Amino acid sequence: MKDSIQKIGVFTSGGDAPGMNAALRAVVRAGIYYKKEVFGIMRGYEGMIDGDIVKLGARSVGNILQRGGTILKSARSMEFKTPEGRKKAYDNLRKEKIDALIAIGGDGTFTGLHKFYEEFKIPSICIPGTIDNDIAGTDYTIGYDTATNTCVEAIDRIRDTALSHSRLFFIEVMGRNSGYIALHSGIAGGAGSIIIPEEDTTFEQLYEKLVAGEVTSKKSNLVVVAEGSKIGGVTELARKVAERTSYFDIKVTILGHLQRGGAPSYFDRVLASKMGVAAVEGVLEGKNDAMVGIRDNKIVFNSFDTIMTQHHEIDAEALRIAKILTI
Ligand code: F6P
Repeated sequence: MKDSIQKIGVFTSGGDAPGMNAALRAVVRAGIYYKKEVFGIMRGYEGMIDGDIVKLGARSVGNILQRGGTILKSARSMEFKTPEGRKKAYDNLRKEKIDALIAIGGDGTFTGLHKFYEEFKIPSICIPGTIDNDIAGTDYTIGYDTATNTCVEAIDRIRDTALSHSRLFFIEVMGRNSGYIALHSGIAGGAGSIIIPEEDTTFEQLYEKLVAGEVTSKKSNLVVVAEGSKIGGVTELARKVAERTSYFDIKVTILGHLQRGGAPSYFDRVLASKMGVAAVEGVLEGKNDAMVGIRDNKIVFNSFDTIMTQHHEIDAEALRIAKILTI
């Protein structure tokens, strides 16, 4: 264990995700377990630049495990992208004598921390917290399981009304450029078609599949579309289908930010707890400029360089299954 590290700074950054609080709790408690001091940096890089830093104790993270959002708050900082912003942040960390950083966030957070590490060499570990599951080097990111469950619940509800009125629904789910949420919520919600950026489904193919249902008088159907769809968003797809045929009564639902909130699932709470403890142990063992991940149910560390240059490949088996089940 590194004696040179006595004070650890922890922050959440980028889009919030259910389970961030559970990860924070794990970092704080593991730090204290190993006799270190832990400081919470408010609003991600913004708070680092403003010196908005608070000491955290084991009790100050009590009763947050089950809460969505992040008690440290989050932000997407433009100022941290500038050398001046990063210098201000570094000066504030020095003032508080913080010797190591643990960031909970997505790829934007990691890119910022990697740059910061290159400039100031402050030991840094990232914990992947984003609903998108778009980070290489880990099978799951914190928040993805909860967000996907939220989508499945929403899809089930939409199915009730779609069936009652024999309607065709286009449902947009989040994921930025990743199709993970769409693919898995689509399978679990019994979607008739799933559109994700990783797959080259054309509009023609989608249209043919929808009208093929005409033969069997199928009017109600759910199409789950990832927000990163390359063939247009839900509104455009709905318009294009309506232009070609009046057979369907079409509705559009964009699930939006409701996917980001809510109590984390059991899976996300355990994942966040494991990753939080691993991040503290990793940084104290001298791991640096790296991300903690989970592969085949085992904690792993990957360097930022490896993560940033790779894409989290879509789950090929899920894709295969989806093709069979959406006939
Ligand atoms: O990265 C998480 C995420 O929710 C994406 O799925 C989505 O594209 C984006 O953040 C939305 O960002 P914001 O909350 O800043 O609108």
